[in-house]
Amino acid sequence: MKEESTNSKMQGFSRRKFLRGAGITTAGSVLLNTGLLAGSSTPANETGMYVGPGPVTVQIEVNGQMETLAIEPRTTLASALRDHLGMTGTKVVCDRGSCSACTVWLDGKPVNSCMTLAVDVGTKKVTTIEGLAKNGALHPVQEAFIEHDASQCGYCTPGMIMSCAHLLNENPRPTLEDVKKATRGNLCRCGTYPHVFKATLAAADKMK
Ligand code: FES
Ligand code: FES
Repeated sequence: MKEESTNSKMQGFSRRKFLRGAGITTAGSVLLNTGLLAGSSTPANETGMYVGPGPVTVQIEVNGQMETLAIEPRTTLASALRDHLGMTGTKVVCDRGSCSACTVWLDGKPVNSCMTLAVDVGTKKVTTIEGLAKNGALHPVQEAFIEHDASQCGYCTPGMIMSCAHLLNENPRPTLEDVKKATRGNLCRCGTYPHVFKATLAAADKMK
């Protein structure tokens, strides 16, 4: 089930608090709290406590592939995926933790990638919408979204699918209420919710 904290905690969570929480200083550098930075073109200060604001080198595993990136510490995971790795399946809509369009999995748990710093990913495995299909076959939830016409403009769709697929991983026999709960943070301006619910329940049936 989608972690309640992912969306509900982010609602009303200001960017100022986010930046403070992430340890970003006013100069744009980031407190080095993960120990996962492989290197940096901007040396840490004399205390060795932070890096940036220039690019730092990070390694993250995305869909089973190790990726090395030179990015500013303020770079979100969403931006790292889209702008640095060219993986534009993950959408950015609100860019402030309110809509969950940018949902990806970290170690199998859904997170808003627009509210996650790439330098904080560390050794957690990132799964994006591009990583759901296996050996050329779509994930059953992806297939069901097509069959049940669960996408209109498509901006919310990748995030919605990541939430629904995660639900089925955790609960293979969900009720309608379970699906509603799992997607309550995923906002769809086109109002595809009934189709999303039907598609997810159909995918669950198919996966039995
Ligand atoms: S929550 Fe990330 S784009 Fe809306
Ligand atoms: S399909 Fe358009 S926002 Fe959901």
